[in-house]
Amino acid sequence: MPKITLYITHSLIADDLLLKDKNVVVIDVLRTCTSITVALQNKAKEIIPSESVAKAAKLKRGTGETLLCGEKNGKTIPGFNLGNSPYEFKESIIRGKTLVFCTTNGTVSIVKSRLAKNCIIGSFVNINKVVDFLSTIKEDIIILCAGKQNNFSLEDFICAGAMIKEIMKIVGSDYYELNDAERSALTLSECLVYADNNIIPEKVQRLLHSTEHGKYLRSLRFYEDIDISAGVNTYPILPILYKDVIKLKEQIDFEISQRQQMKKIDLSGKSKENKV
Ligand code: MLT
Repeated sequence: MPKITLYITHSLIADDLLLKDKNVVVIDVLRTCTSITVALQNKAKEIIPSESVAKAAKLKRGTGETLLCGEKNGKTIPGFNLGNSPYEFKESIIRGKTLVFCTTNGTVSIVKSRLAKNCIIGSFVNINKVVDFLSTIKEDIIILCAGKQNNFSLEDFICAGAMIKEIMKIVGSDYYELNDAERSALTLSECLVYADNNIIPEKVQRLLHSTEHGKYLRSLRFYEDIDISAGVNTYPILPILYKDVIKLKEQIDFEISQRQQMKKIDLSGKSKENKV
């Protein structure tokens, strides 16, 4: 019986090899995973996650086509082009650009998952897209909540619980083995954001405005960010980390098939040359 394993904060992953060759969903509702999804929907070319400001600066390619994005204590990192506010990632600003991202918990969690077989970027705004993909895998799943400063974050935990519930709606409630953390997330999400077996956006919005990090973002007047992050399936796309870069799954699949095509053409060219 495959199982779902939930980590309530990335600091529980002491060794990145723990996630090697695994199916990992990284959740950071406020705000990293939401911002990444909004940015790709608004036609950013790609997102490069970084676990430190210094590394992010190194990753910034010399061209104007790369923007440095990120936060420290929720505010834009000095010298960076943009912060981590989904409200900022407007198409007019980021279209066709590479965004190098550095955030306190979200990008650290994503970089820790770089050895995963599948590393999926998840939040409420793309929850069904994530669940649809996971339900096709039918293997063990790891849900990695970014958390808050190595601590528990309620919004990530509830989003994880909702993902488990939505997966079970598709594959059946006894398909996956769940332990205490997973069952707790499932039950609490049913209490806090569900009615009639459906996620209620107004309940998600109320929750996000009331959590520790939600209240902190309110103190910084990031009200729109919280409302955007509370959207349910409002950005139905699937960002995936592949070779240290986040792109849409469709884009990655297309690039892989292109490369295979090229290889085939190359090989057939070589075999023709050998015959001559
Ligand atoms: C994080 O990665 O820690 C959060 O997304 C921080 C934030 O932008 O609020």
